Amino acid sequence: MATNQDRVNFGSKIGAILAAAGSAVGLGNIWRFPYETGNHGGAAFILIYLLCIVLLGLPIMIAEFSIGRHSRANTAGAYNVLAPGTPWRGVGYMGVLAGFLILSYYSVVAGWTLEYTWQAISNGFAGMNAEGYTQFFTNFSANPWRSVLWMVVFMVMTHMVILMGVKKGIEKSAKIMMPMLFILIIVLVVCSVTLPGADKGLAFLLKPDFSKVNADVFLGAMGQAFFSLSLGLGCLSTYASYFGKDTNLSKTALSVGVIDTMVAIMAGLIIFPAAFSVGVSPDAGPSLLFITLPNVFQMAFGDVPFLAYIFSVMFYVLLALAAFTSTISMHEVVTAFVHEDWKFSRKKAAWYVTIFCTLLGVLSALSFGVLADMKIFGLTFFDFLDTLTSKVMLPLGGMLISIFTGWYLDRRIVWDELTNEGSLKVPFFKVYIFIMKYLAPVAIGLIFLNELGIW
Ligand code: PFF
Repeated sequence: MATNQDRVNFGSKIGAILAAAGSAVGLGNIWRFPYETGNHGGAAFILIYLLCIVLLGLPIMIAEFSIGRHSRANTAGAYNVLAPGTPWRGVGYMGVLAGFLILSYYSVVAGWTLEYTWQAISNGFAGMNAEGYTQFFTNFSANPWRSVLWMVVFMVMTHMVILMGVKKGIEKSAKIMMPMLFILIIVLVVCSVTLPGADKGLAFLLKPDFSKVNADVFLGAMGQAFFSLSLGLGCLSTYASYFGKDTNLSKTALSVGVIDTMVAIMAGLIIFPAAFSVGVSPDAGPSLLFITLPNVFQMAFGDVPFLAYIFSVMFYVLLALAAFTSTISMHEVVTAFVHEDWKFSRKKAAWYVTIFCTLLGVLSALSFGVLADMKIFGLTFFDFLDTLTSKVMLPLGGMLISIFTGWYLDRRIVWDELTNEGSLKVPFFKVYIFIMKYLAPVAIGLIFLNELGIW
């Protein structure tokens, strides 16, 4: 197992924050958050989601950062360093597996963003109406060749960045892409909330109806929080293994959490006003973003086709880039593990990950078309992987990480990591330990039991 004190680091603190934020901000915020919100009834779901971010997400993120930076190893290797010879390394293995599974189906949706970028560039949506967009999505996602082709293209792009390494590949791409994405999202929020009939969408997003809250809403919100923050699978602990000694872990976690949450809420502010405005149902599921967005461009800039063109091209490019900084981070989790623990060269490790993930991804891509009838527990292959990872593996990983930090890890290590060996003040340390020891494991456990109908 290769763990060492002088392995590569991110070049700057801001680079580290942006790389972690780049991992967190992705399709989870712009594609998944709106449709999960839509499926679970709107504002009440968002409130529970926010609670999960603050009480579970941020503390567990700090724990992952501590584990990664202290061990300076990939997620499975980290437990070999911090708890040698114990079953804790299973948490690392589960994380690597979760990263692998998520990457395989996530890259299918990432591939869709490339198709939409292509359509935007070639003006393929010109003159279509709301029904046309829905039809287009259904036909495209069911087409075995196109969706597999774009998924493969996306995988190959991810592979290239991973080969370029941590500083030049991961850090640099995040530094350029993240600010651009932010600005464009703000422009689109303004466009969307000023559409005729947008108020119904805003009410759906902002006025909670607690009568709709049930066990599924809790599990959905918790799963979304973990997924969106890239938590529970050791992704951020892998990134933290490249953090410098002077990176302030709690501040970095707060920045990542705030950026991630803002992007998700703004994505909701783009999608729902527009969806209500053109009559797209908020519970349309994974297609929601892709059938709603073309309408936003059409309706907001329809009178000035040039603007509609420019904005839609820019948005899809940035959506693809947001997905890209996330797929890079998932690939890195698995590649770092295969390279360091299985002793393959980094290049070979990256190749294996890319090839096997692509093969698995094909099944997810086809599950919107030719394999739509192949069901596992009543779910398509794509939905099954999404449910298994986000609603089971990530929260379970988060629960074990908090138990590990609260009960197993030497308190001194946690203190050193949070305070940068005593040089930072951390007045909330006791509260933090309480959350790790009791609150997080119990809350996650109760949400699981609640879903199973036991509690
Ligand atoms: N957080 C990413 C998103 O919201 O799109 C998805 C993700 C990235 C999940 C990396 C897990 C991960 F390790």
